[in-house]
Amino acid sequence: MPQVDIDIEQGARAPSPYVPRMARITAASQMTETERFFRIRMEGEPLRYEPGQFVGATVFGVGEAPISICSSPTQGDEFELTVRTIGTVTGNLMAYKAGDRLGIRGPFGNRFDYDAMKGQDLLIVGAGLGLAPTRSLIRYALDKRENFGNVTIMIGAREPRWLLYRDEIEQWTQRSDVKTLVTVDRADKDWKGKVGVVTRLFSDIKLDPARTWAVVVGPPVMFKFTVLEALAEGVPEHRIICSLERHMKCGVGKCGHCQIRGVYVCREGPVFTYEQVKKLREGI
Ligand SMILES: Cc1cc2nc3c(=O)[nH]c(=O)nc-3n(C[C@H](O)[C@H](O)[C@H](O)COP(=O)(O)OP(=O)(O)OC[C@H]3O[C@@H](n4cnc5c(N)ncnc54)[C@H](O)[C@@H]3O)c2cc1C
Ligand code: FES
Repeated sequence: MPQVDIDIEQGARAPSPYVPRMARITAASQMTETERFFRIRMEGEPLRYEPGQFVGATVFGVGEAPISICSSPTQGDEFELTVRTIGTVTGNLMAYKAGDRLGIRGPFGNRFDYDAMKGQDLLIVGAGLGLAPTRSLIRYALDKRENFGNVTIMIGAREPRWLLYRDEIEQWTQRSDVKTLVTVDRADKDWKGKVGVVTRLFSDIKLDPARTWAVVVGPPVMFKFTVLEALAEGVPEHRIICSLERHMKCGVGKCGHCQIRGVYVCREGPVFTYEQVKKLREGI
């Protein structure tokens, strides 16, 4: 281990990947009962990141949690996170508001390979908190719309009250250059949209499998059945993309916490093709 001088004030200039840099929350809002949204600005150099990457978010004196960046680098110098309260670190973050400071390490991991997707059709399927990493790619694709063919977004949530980014989804729905479909497993009395699991939305779209990249992120059951639908439509395994969550510590391929079959998910992932995931799963 390299020697690290953990001084949180100096951290902003520290080159070590183990030392968090200081960052300040510029906007925060509660999205659902358990999910909170943050816009963050680094103190010093802005965070340079790519869609699909994640950061280590530190609550000083408590700990660190890996969190996907849900904004796109096309949005400017600030970046965004959506945090679901699960335990110690994420629970503490629920109280964080604009003006508060936290530590940020990273960005870590690989990216959605938008160069390979250039000129091709995109099918982006995000369910639950899986919409957070996919939002980064959606925002990127919408800001660079001319780089892609047809863009289809399919979104699922358990109930309307768990739907993330509602205002933004409404804006995507209004756009004529992107097809956005939303469904909830169970409606409430105000819900006027579709009801049913996200895979049902496949009957509302027409894919050209030879030129489609399917990006699928969500809970394991959703992932399994959505991938089956995409395969049934003829999308090849190497063009189905997902983002894996593993328990992580260092984020830089040193501690081994995230390792599956010698693959360091923090460094070689979290973005993998379904072809790769199938091989990794045999090792779990
Ligand atoms: C690459 C990556 C991206 C992620 N992106 C996001 C995101 O955008 N938003 C978000 O809210 N969360 C995200 N997570 C999950 C988040 O890192 C965990 O929820 C967080 O680390 C829990 O920390 P904690 O201290 O709050 O909980 P703890 O007190 O450490 O744990 C509470 C419980 O949650 C379990 N747990 C802890 N970490 C994980 C995990 N990674 N997967 C499954 N169970 C876990 C523990 O085993 C324990 O049972 C991501 C994780 C990874 C690896
Ligand atoms: S988190 Fe330490 S090696 Fe991946």
